[in-house]
Amino acid sequence: MRDEKIAVLTAYDYPMARLLEEAGIDLLLVGDSLGMVVLGYPNTTHVTMDEMIHHTRAVARGSTHTPVLADLPFASYDDPESALANARRLIEAGAHAVKLEGGASHVSQIAGLVAAGIPTMAHIGMMPQRVLVEGGYRMKGKTADEAEKLLADAAAVERAGAFALLLELVVPEVAGRITASISIPTIGIGSGPQCDGQVLVTHDLIGSFPWFTPKFVSPKATVAAAIRAAAGEFIRETKL
Ligand code: KIV
Repeated sequence: MRDEKIAVLTAYDYPMARLLEEAGIDLLLVGDSLGMVVLGYPNTTHVTMDEMIHHTRAVARGSTHTPVLADLPFASYDDPESALANARRLIEAGAHAVKLEGGASHVSQIAGLVAAGIPTMAHIGMMPQRVLVEGGYRMKGKTADEAEKLLADAAAVERAGAFALLLELVVPEVAGRITASISIPTIGIGSGPQCDGQVLVTHDLIGSFPWFTPKFVSPKATVAAAIRAAAGEFIRETKL
């Protein structure tokens, strides 16, 4: 495990990128979670390349020195050629790196992107773009077989050249074993404290999407309540 942990938050627009940079965040993630918390989709499988590009451009405009990582959305990296073409579009939009969901199954995409000079983060554990086939969001690594598969995925993406590995909803003990077994940093979400860094969806952290908050998040602000109160005050003043 590294000495200084890496702090990552999602940003989907210019003001949030600026605010998070001013707060000192290490890395801005234009996550495809924007599909739910900004665009109102039921899950991330509806997010398009054009939407990712639109939001990546806005985040890039709000960041002066913080690296911007953008998600390759659902079905945009099914083969190495489409992965490269779509990753190039995100880089042109202002991203410095891209993230894709997959382990050993996606080593040819990762190796191709890295060979083309595009830093690539892999994302294993719960992969939200697979929610339709999995039927929900569940912890991964509960059985010995699942844990072994995650360890093998981690080794495979490191060998393929990924610069970091995101672990989503991985049993904390398994996340710790993965972190100890590879030399690239692990960034966890709902995977316990033994990762090299942590990432959260900013809307969950600040309480601006109150209709759903993952169990592992302790919101640090209540932005939804502040918005309702401010709007309520304006409405009352207007109607006086
Ligand atoms: O899209 C996203 O926001 C993510 C989360 C796991 C951080 O990938």
